[in-house]
Amino acid sequence: MKKIFISLLIPAIFLWAKNIAYSDEVVSLYLNKDDAKVIGKLLPTNPFEILKDQNNKVMIRISGYINPKFPSVIYFNNSQRIIVAAFSKNIKLNYSQIKKGEKGKWDKVNLEIWADKKDFSKDNRKMLNHAKELFVNNCGICHALHSEKEFNVNAWPAIFKSMVNRTSIDKKDQWLVIEYLQKNAKDFKIK
Ligand code: HEC
Repeated sequence: MKKIFISLLIPAIFLWAKNIAYSDEVVSLYLNKDDAKVIGKLLPTNPFEILKDQNNKVMIRISGYINPKFPSVIYFNNSQRIIVAAFSKNIKLNYSQIKKGEKGKWDKVNLEIWADKKDFSKDNRKMLNHAKELFVNNCGICHALHSEKEFNVNAWPAIFKSMVNRTSIDKKDQWLVIEYLQKNAKDFKIK
């Protein structure tokens, strides 16, 4: 009886401990809770863990990969330019290194940082569907829709940015659509 109880309890604690969330829009980041100065941005659709929740701010843990030579950007995987968070270049960030990159691949890191509290979601499926809808409804008007798979991860941001001003996609949704396109691109890798 006791054994069954413990084996049920362990997964429950694990799920409760990891408070994973996603934002559908860009979120401002701060070094300290009461700072007014924004030092970085977290981009939509990427998972983060909420560690503390205080008034209008949350302390979050971001996981990702950095190029140790240019450590002001956290990427989604160890070799492609899918931005999870980007920071001012002159800010010293307190990364904890999880795994050193091998053969020129980027280092896996965690970063704890403060963020504006928003209406976060428990998963990112709905926001990715919304991004797809924006893409399909706006990008196939003047020419046939170019498929997500037509371009590489690193090519999509520039292509999207060169076209977005011809569409009615809101400024607030632009990074949402870019992240969607990159995560569905021809050469996308999860790791
Ligand atoms: C108002 C019309 C219009 C809309 C809306 C539009 N495009 Fe285009 N697109 C064009 C035209 C015209 C070209 C031909 C090249 C040029 O003018 O830059 C083009 C070219 C392209 C190309 C080919 C570029 C290349 O180098 O092969 C891609 C890819 C593309 N568009 C993607 C998109 C995406 C993604 C969106 C939505 C964000 C979009 N377009 C929305 C008019 C549009």
